[in-house]
Amino acid sequence: MNEKTLNETALGMVAPGRGLLAADESTGTIKKRFDGIGVENTEPNRRAYRDMLFNTPGFEKHTSGVILFEETLFQSSLAGEPFSKLLASKGVIPGIKVDKGAKPLPGGKPDETITEGLDGLRERLLKYREAGARFAKWRGVIVIGNGAPSYNAIQTNAHALARYAALCQEADIVPIVEPEVLMDGDNTAATCEEVTTWVLKEVFQQLYYQNVLLEGMVLKPNMAVSGIRCATQASVDEVAERSVRMLRNCVPSAVPGVAFLSGGQSDELATAHLDAMNRVGNLPWKLTFSYGRALQAAALKAWSGKDVEAGKKAHLHRARMNGLASLGQWEAALEKAA
Ligand code: 13P
Repeated sequence: MNEKTLNETALGMVAPGRGLLAADESTGTIKKRFDGIGVENTEPNRRAYRDMLFNTPGFEKHTSGVILFEETLFQSSLAGEPFSKLLASKGVIPGIKVDKGAKPLPGGKPDETITEGLDGLRERLLKYREAGARFAKWRGVIVIGNGAPSYNAIQTNAHALARYAALCQEADIVPIVEPEVLMDGDNTAATCEEVTTWVLKEVFQQLYYQNVLLEGMVLKPNMAVSGIRCATQASVDEVAERSVRMLRNCVPSAVPGVAFLSGGQSDELATAHLDAMNRVGNLPWKLTFSYGRALQAAALKAWSGKDVEAGKKAHLHRARMNGLASLGQWEAALEKAA
């Protein structure tokens, strides 16, 4: 394990004013996105869509890295250049999602899952590194409601995240450690903060047991938000206050940065929350974005399989807004101006 390389890559992923584009939708997930705009889920369409995103002029100013799905890592742009090379040539670090998805957790509560994909991961990581990936992502999922979360779900997912992270670092690949507490319940933001705190405590305990180098990883958590079915939605300031407190209580300052998932928040709210957290100031880690839906929704709609220029324009705008939010310099008025 090269500690210096891992630390440099992790710092690059959370460089000031930049964040991550999560474009690692599996073939099944991208189908849902394409269904929404009436585009057929074929390999050429997936390639064309990602070509539009990665060829957006200037997006690299706000984007430190892109999380790719395995298919995309081994695909080439429409101009014939491997996507990983195209990104690297713009100073954007290529990464890859390596988990094999969340499966029902044996002995768990209803809807609880355990993320699979550890078997054979050591060998796959070598192949991915060879293809240009410098970081990886693994997502563990925790649900709230119907008696969940159980300690079973939290402990097994934290253990798997640490196993994955240790394997990544052995291959000089920076692990994005993503424990996602879903926001689709009817719980309050206070409950989300409480559950996420428990989850993060367990994740860092498992990372410690498995000798994961904190300086060579990036944490990708959810924010402390209200469930979408909760009658009272926490304000932007409340979400920022709870999220920062939760991180301060759980995340060692040795971790270079935290790159949030958007988890189903609207584009603008995800930006406003990140901005509000960064305005708190005096934090030991960089706080940035690693958004999927909140970075792509507008671009996907504008593109709709046809309009490449409109897609790029929408993508650049969202990337720029989130880049500003990662510095605590976003203003709502900038959205209207655009
Ligand atoms: P969302 O921002 O759409 O939640 O996706 C981020 C991600 O990579 C989930 O694993």
